[in-house]
Amino acid sequence: MKFLLVPLAALAIALPAQAQFKSPEDAVKYRKSAFTLMGSHFGRLAAMAQGKVPFDAKLAAENADVLAVVVKLPYSTFGEETATVANSEAKPEVWKEMPAFKAAAEKLQGEVAKLQVAAKTGDLAQLKAAVGQTFQSCKACHDKFKEK
Ligand code: HEC
Repeated sequence: MKFLLVPLAALAIALPAQAQFKSPEDAVKYRKSAFTLMGSHFGRLAAMAQGKVPFDAKLAAENADVLAVVVKLPYSTFGEETATVANSEAKPEVWKEMPAFKAAAEKLQGEVAKLQVAAKTGDLAQLKAAVGQTFQSCKACHDKFKEK
């Protein structure tokens, strides 16, 4: 992946937590872990919404609560120095279009907040609708910012 120049000062403001990682590889490992958790907790909700597993309102609410925490985790790891880590699937567009990337991250957090509310109603129809909306925001970001 091509190395991209982003003014250092802007990154320091945008990503204050990047200093917590020993190396760019560690930062990528952390974000892949966070996305993996996102995939598994969202997957459980999606399976209920699609009728692949029985709807369990309590379990749905628990998964939505975990998801609401996990969706906040990856974004402190996208320092410029991680753009060249070999096993990262993040596209160069992440660094070229950081405001759009952040907007996509915030969009997901908004959808997951609604998903949390929907899951707590215990109403499968509401869960289905919110799962659908959440999935759209996962997909929109992946289409633009993640390699296939
Ligand atoms: C703001 C953008 C964005 C949103 C929103 C987003 N993702 Fe991702 N996702 C990424 C990027 C970028 C990567 C690649 C990270 C890397 O390899 O460095 C990724 C990677 C992943 C991975 C692969 C992890 C691995 O082990 O390599 C999974 C699974 C995943 N995302 C699931 C989800 C799910 C589920 C949602 C919605 C609930 C979601 N993502 C929402 C940007 C996003």
